Amino acid sequence: MPLINPPESTPTLRVSHLHSRAHGFRIFIQPDGNKVKVDAVDGTSVMKAAIASGVRGIIGECGGDLSCASCHVFVVKEWFDLLGPIGAFEDEMLDATSEDRTDCSRLSCQIVVTPSLEGLTLTVPASQR
Ligand code: FES
Repeated sequence: MPLINPPESTPTLRVSHLHSRAHGFRIFIQPDGNKVKVDAVDGTSVMKAAIASGVRGIIGECGGDLSCASCHVFVVKEWFDLLGPIGAFEDEMLDATSEDRTDCSRLSCQIVVTPSLEGLTLTVPASQR
């Protein structure tokens, strides 16, 4: 079958980035001390990456709409300051978690995966099962 070239006036679409790239891993420490390594795609949330990998205790009931707090995690101290400031809504929701917040609490749905977060280590609260 002969190939048909498009007319010269046909606009072309150049796709320069065909596939999202998975970057390294994030480590979720379960309440029993087990570590779960999770690969994640740039731009997704840590919550979605955890759920896709079956991390126990990360529920994400609201899908990341900041209305459930079931994605609460404790971020290991050396990583916490690299995550940037907590937004006002997230800060409010952190007061409604099933386990009391600490100075290193975050909602994992608000942490966006970037290459610089490779190795990010988080602990899942024991109360989220
Ligand atoms: S998934 Fe509901 S607040 Fe994070």
